[in-house]
Amino acid sequence: MKLVLGSDHAALDLRHFLAERLESEGHTVIQVGASSPDSYDYPDAADAAVKVLNFGEADLGILICGTGIGISIRANRHPGVRAALCTTEFMATMAREHNHANILCLGARVLGTEQAAFVVRAFLTATPSDGPRHLARIQKIDGRINGE
Ligand code: RB5
Repeated sequence: MKLVLGSDHAALDLRHFLAERLESEGHTVIQVGASSPDSYDYPDAADAAVKVLNFGEADLGILICGTGIGISIRANRHPGVRAALCTTEFMATMAREHNHANILCLGARVLGTEQAAFVVRAFLTATPSDGPRHLARIQKIDGRINGE
């Protein structure tokens, strides 16, 4: 799978850890965002990752900041993005299956590295449900039913 991983400075170590792990599992990884421990604004990492997704250079994204909150809020301002902040494997599976999330958000100050890797694996191995009720709700999320 082609993945884009973005983070601010607070999540640089976790991003590098996950990128290495994912590449060792055969995924192609593009990294965006902070490149040093110097302060880096998480909205810029979100914007850069969404650009990669919109260019079709990645299938899914993973965005990480200290809590995962700020970067998920920014990512979700972009049309077509469904970014899900997850702390457990169950949440990550549901985010893909029920919400068709295309970006997983994580908090580097919330999860340990191995727990984060488990959450990522759950996200990447889940299959979006084609159940009509889920499809209808996703259309509503994206404003395609409410006439927006
Ligand atoms: C950076 O200190 C921190 O605010 C950021 O990583 C994130 O937690 C914001 O939501």
